[in-house]
Amino acid sequence: MIRIEENVSLRSYNTFGIDANARYFCRISTEAQFQELIKTAVYKNEKHLIVGGGSNLLFTGDFDGLIIKVDLKGITIVEENDDHIHLEVSSGEVWHDLVMYCVQHNYGGIENLSLIPGSVGAAPIQNIGAYGVEIQEVIQLIKGIDLKTGEPKSYTKDKCGFGYRESIFKHELKEKYFISSVTLSLTKKNHRINVSYGAIQDTMKAMNTLPTIQSISDAVIQIRRSKLPDPILIGNAGSFFKNPSISLSHYQNLKNNHPKIPSYPTVNQEVKVPAGWLIEQCGWKGKRINNIGVHEHQALVLVNYGAGKGEEIYQLAMQIQSSVKEKFSITLTPEVNIIR
Ligand code: EPU
Repeated sequence: MIRIEENVSLRSYNTFGIDANARYFCRISTEAQFQELIKTAVYKNEKHLIVGGGSNLLFTGDFDGLIIKVDLKGITIVEENDDHIHLEVSSGEVWHDLVMYCVQHNYGGIENLSLIPGSVGAAPIQNIGAYGVEIQEVIQLIKGIDLKTGEPKSYTKDKCGFGYRESIFKHELKEKYFISSVTLSLTKKNHRINVSYGAIQDTMKAMNTLPTIQSISDAVIQIRRSKLPDPILIGNAGSFFKNPSISLSHYQNLKNNHPKIPSYPTVNQEVKVPAGWLIEQCGWKGKRINNIGVHEHQALVLVNYGAGKGEEIYQLAMQIQSSVKEKFSITLTPEVNIIR
């Protein structure tokens, strides 16, 4: 049986800690409950939003519709041999708990993605990535339900349209598909260790340790803790904007005026530049405006010190966007899902 509640505070369902209210709210623990929900009048008549860990969301006001909180749990081994293991993980599992489970069992592939907030079901939607690894590298299958027909539907990795913080679940399938599980292919030996990111190498050197699944995870956790605010202590949704890609000629022009501008490796004549650097150059880093602000150690992260409003954070993001546009002729795109 499902229970649809009314006028529920969303404060504990978004890591920004925004105190918006949902007109309707329902918690889903099984696929069957989801199928039951989509037959209800509330589902049919109201707009709805599926929420996992709420770590990539900004509510700019109350949500006048139905919030569906995903609570499906479980990890199942679907295939295993001496080299590989395939885990089917329910979408409501906490991402970092899954990473810790894999690190403990020495399953390789997601150790660089340690400490990313959010749920397993949300991870493929924005193809979470950090320290040289994206989740698409280990995804095998996405299972879920077609919201129109209520029928189960699966997508193999090649059908997911993965790109930098992109997938079909954000575009063609937005509001059309519910992810119930993610199957990951992980290594049991001959791990594909990735220590390409300078900060990981430096941290491991300081830790005086060789790269293993465990030590990479430890290093990533140490780096993230030093730069990124813990959402339990300070409300935030990680990087607020995507790192923009610009043309090589645009980059060379900028480099003439700003010789220190950093960049990520070039792909297809495009250069990706760190939005955090652009924002810092515009003077925003560490700025506080009443209850909200820009994090002091990472300018890409907007923060809520407690009683901030979603609309205030949105307005700050827009101001940041226009100052970066003015100074560098680059339009930043939000990575966070802004609910207006
Ligand atoms: N930088 C600054 N000032 C800042 C922030 C960064 O100058 O305030 C410069 C740094 O000095 C460095 C460069 O920007 O040269 C890159 O910084 P960092 O290593 O912190 O990475 P990022 O590009 O800012 C991306 C992801 C993060 C991910 C890290 C590590 C995006 C939008 N963000 O950040 O992901 O953890 O790389 O791989 O791609 C997230 O998506 O929520 C997230 C935290």
